Amino acid sequence: MHQVRNESQIAEAAAAGGEGKELYVRRMFSAIAPRYDLLNHLLSFNIDRRWRRAAIATLGIHHRPAGCYLDLCAGTLDIAAAIQKSPGFSGQVVAADFSEPMLRAGVHKVDRARVSAVAADALALPVADESFDGAIVAFGIRNVAGLDGCLREVLRVLRRGARFVILEFSTPQSALVRFGYGVYSNNVLPLVGRLISGHRTAYRYLPESVARFPEQRVLAAIMHDAGFRSVQWHALSFGIAAIHVGEKT
Ligand SMILES: C[S@@+](CC[C@H](N)C(=O)[O-])C[C@H]1O[C@@H](n2cnc3c(N)ncnc32)[C@H](O)[C@@H]1O
Repeated sequence: MHQVRNESQIAEAAAAGGEGKELYVRRMFSAIAPRYDLLNHLLSFNIDRRWRRAAIATLGIHHRPAGCYLDLCAGTLDIAAAIQKSPGFSGQVVAADFSEPMLRAGVHKVDRARVSAVAADALALPVADESFDGAIVAFGIRNVAGLDGCLREVLRVLRRGARFVILEFSTPQSALVRFGYGVYSNNVLPLVGRLISGHRTAYRYLPESVARFPEQRVLAAIMHDAGFRSVQWHALSFGIAAIHVGEKT
């Protein structure tokens, strides 16, 4: 039997990884694209920039400055732009996202001779096996409908010895931090997000999807089970976010 669901129920089901997640996520990011950067920096008090820099520092670009790197779920191209500006970098970045409005909102940030923005699904990348010297996903993998499938696809497109870096929100270990951050992310964030983006559920989906995302140790185990080796991780800002790094051997 079919059920008519309201917007909140659709967002809740998407956050839980249910059927319809892919469609909800693509439509939602396409709708909030014009306000995405503003809200990101505002709601994170600009800490997101520091987190992205820390994640890029673990990608190992200095080992292969002329290499080709994948920015997965690239959104408005903050990661691609930062890689391109990394000291000594002379390579290429492929920035893939399935929301064209998100990519379009960010193309002004990059040198298009170095960064190719590609509309593509993280679960079926239109590139040959072993194409990249490294891959990074920032705040994206939680939104992909199929974590295991995404990890398999990244492994496929990485060369041996290449790293995969995941920067993602996380649930803080400390009960006190968890409580404070919970109050903020379940109340302030949805309200400000809705007022500025005009989207009714996007900034409610955010904390709900974070709460359902595997905790840091579990994500490391999932990466290892998928085939990544030397998996390491560290928490950022009291565990509000975390960086995981794995290698294709
Ligand atoms: C929270 S944004 C992150 C954007 C950017 N990486 C950043 O650091 O701000 C998540 C992005 O993941 C993209 N995304 C989610 N699922 C995807 C998929 N299956 N394939 C490609 N992009 C996807 C969305 O369109 C969105 O732009």
